Amino acid sequence: MIQVLFVCLGNICRSPIAEGVFKELVVKKGLDDIILCDSAGTAAYHTGSLPDKRMRKTALDRGISLTHSARQLCYEDFTRFDYIMAMDEANFANIREESFRVNGFYLPEQQLYLYRLFDPLRGESVIVPDPYYGEISGFVDVYEIVERSGEQFLDYLIEKHNLSPASGD
Ligand code: 4NP
Repeated sequence: MIQVLFVCLGNICRSPIAEGVFKELVVKKGLDDIILCDSAGTAAYHTGSLPDKRMRKTALDRGISLTHSARQLCYEDFTRFDYIMAMDEANFANIREESFRVNGFYLPEQQLYLYRLFDPLRGESVIVPDPYYGEISGFVDVYEIVERSGEQFLDYLIEKHNLSPASGD
């Protein structure tokens, strides 16, 4: 089993859409009994909430229903998840510091990543921008970024773990 955790600040915009889109890609490849995923936030402000309604609508318009209940990152996550994918540099730094605080060591490079490094169109930007205080177009941008990143990240996992995806798509 390969366990993947997507992490942002509030766990109501970027990480639940990253999780929802990635799950869909994993199912399409027939790898859902091998790759499991979840999402969490570094902050607890929205614990128990559904994803932001603008994010849910953006997802639903593209056939993806987001039902995740927001939760805060917790120390068990550092041992449970093989891949922890941070949406931006602040999330990355917070995860890193928290893992040091609770474990006494930093997470290895092969466990903690900036997710957008997997976006082939990232250009200079390595972050999935926070859409919360912006326009609806920001939510669409997030969707497109996590879709491209998810495709490339899944290819990376398939190659690294020598997985056998379903043929066809
Ligand atoms: P997220 O977006 O980290 O992508 O879930 C945010 C959600 C809520 C807040 C900030 C960012 N907030 O300040 O409440």
